[in-house]
Amino acid sequence: MNNIFEMAESIFQPNSIAEKLHHTHQAWQMFNEGQLNFAEIREPAAIATVNFPLRPLLLSPKQMPKRPLNSANGIAAFFHAIAHIEFIAIYLAWDILYRFRGLPEQFYQDWLRIADEEAQHFELIQTHLQKLGLDYGDLPAHHGLWEHAVDTADNVLARLALVPRCMEARGLDVTPKMLLKFKTSGDAAGVAILTRILTDEVGHVERGSFWFHYFCQEQGLEPERHYQEMIARYYKGGKPKGPFNRELRIIAGFSNAELDWLENKS
Ligand SMILES: [Fe+2]
Ligand SMILES: [Fe+2]
Repeated sequence: MNNIFEMAESIFQPNSIAEKLHHTHQAWQMFNEGQLNFAEIREPAAIATVNFPLRPLLLSPKQMPKRPLNSANGIAAFFHAIAHIEFIAIYLAWDILYRFRGLPEQFYQDWLRIADEEAQHFELIQTHLQKLGLDYGDLPAHHGLWEHAVDTADNVLARLALVPRCMEARGLDVTPKMLLKFKTSGDAAGVAILTRILTDEVGHVERGSFWFHYFCQEQGLEPERHYQEMIARYYKGGKPKGPFNRELRIIAGFSNAELDWLENKS
């Protein structure tokens, strides 16, 4: 198998998590060795056919048990939740490159590199989680993360606005605070992993901003206004809630005007 879209299909099939991770790293390595081709083999399969592992059990946010961070169980549950976010992030990176066709080759390369980084994040968190006595799948997880992908399966601008520029951007807002907590509690390994993830995630949101602007320009759309329109049309619950990390979001390609709008200042 040396076609990027066939590799994507292999991720979405009912195989083990280890195989999904292996295929992701393999695809990125093949690309770097010039062995991956980007020819369109067939139309993408419907997003409803994407297959997820049997574990973890997926629950709605309301059904998720609350586990405060001030206990060992709470901390393990926190890292389990992060493992799930990273696992879904692997799927999200593969899905954006699988579903949207006929785009510049750089687009596919960017999301393939991101898929590989998400797989690395997942592995780092999974190893940490195992040291805390849990494995990925031992606890239930939040089922909502994939919903944005389903809702935006036919519109690449909506996908970029909702996934990198809402969901992943949220990580830039909340991770620095989590880092402070773990620094105070003396979890050096957790701090190192979350720092690495945060650095990479700034880059993922930046690629989201870059391609959002690129396609807006191609279609003659004004990007700031179109971002607002995409949120109004696809984001459930009005607008993403702050507080927003302005410094990191600016590095990741948000404009001050977009942040003012998110903060209700304009
Ligand atoms: Fe990640
Ligand atoms: Fe990411």
